[in-house]
Amino acid sequence: MNLTELNRIATAMVAPGKGILAADESSGTIKKRFDAIGVESTETNRRDYREMLFRSNEAMSQYISGVILYDETIWQTAADGTPLIKLIESSGAIPGIKVDEGTQGLPMCPGELVTVGLDKLAERLKKYYERGARFAKWRAVIDIGSGIPSMTAIGVNAHALARYAALCQAAQIVPIVEPEVLMDGDHDIDRCYDVTQRVLNKTFQELRVQRVALEGMVLKPNMAISGKKCTKQASVEEVAEKTIRLLKACVPAAVPGIAFLSGGQSDEEATAHLNAMHKLGPLPWGLTFSYGRALQAAPQKAWSGKAENVAAGQRAFSHRARMNGLASKGEWQSSLEKKAA
Ligand code: 13P
Repeated sequence: MNLTELNRIATAMVAPGKGILAADESSGTIKKRFDAIGVESTETNRRDYREMLFRSNEAMSQYISGVILYDETIWQTAADGTPLIKLIESSGAIPGIKVDEGTQGLPMCPGELVTVGLDKLAERLKKYYERGARFAKWRAVIDIGSGIPSMTAIGVNAHALARYAALCQAAQIVPIVEPEVLMDGDHDIDRCYDVTQRVLNKTFQELRVQRVALEGMVLKPNMAISGKKCTKQASVEEVAEKTIRLLKACVPAAVPGIAFLSGGQSDEEATAHLNAMHKLGPLPWGLTFSYGRALQAAPQKAWSGKAENVAAGQRAFSHRARMNGLASKGEWQSSLEKKAA
């Protein structure tokens, strides 16, 4: 393992002004997104849609540090025969790959999930590296509800995240470690804070036990945030203050970067939260976005599966990427949104 090189990549993934595009929706998830805009989820439509994003020059060259791909996409070629991964590389962004194989019900733990995909992972990583992937992603899912999460679910998911991270580093790939505490449910921000703290502490304990080099990874956490159905929604300032307090308590400064998931926040909320956190700096790690929905909802709607809308889809994507790029430096203002609209 070349840790200097892993650290260089991890640092580039969270460079100020840039963040990560999570375009790694599984076949099931992208179908849901396409259903919402009335587009059939065929291999060609998925290709056309992602080609539109990766050919968005302004966004890709100025605001996107890396792109997380799904297995299908990393092997796909653009309409003109160029491998999609080459489009990403030539924009200057770093290609990455989602390597978990989704979740399964955790035996004896009703309502809880464990992420799978460790079998044969070493062989798969080797092929992805040869294809050009320089980082990977594995997402663990922790739900908050009555009596959950159990320590069992937190433990097995943290163990798997660390197993994955160690395998990645051995394959010279930077692991994005993503323990997502869901924002579904009616819990308040303080319950989210407590659960996320337990999850992060257990995750870093496992990472240490399994000898993962913290300097060569990126953490992808949820923010400390109110559940979607909670009657009392925390303000932008409260989310920022509690999230930074939580991360400072749990994430060692040796970690080069933290890149948030958006998790169902609206586009503008996700931007405002990141921006507000930078107002609380200086921070010990790079802090940016690794958004899926909060970067893609607008371009998906603008595109709606029509070739004549490609330019509009690219404008919508570039706008969101620029807003989040500014937020990653604490330089965003809501008035910039109104100007664009
Ligand atoms: P969202 O930003 O839509 O939560 O997606 C990010 C991601 O990669 C989830 O695994």
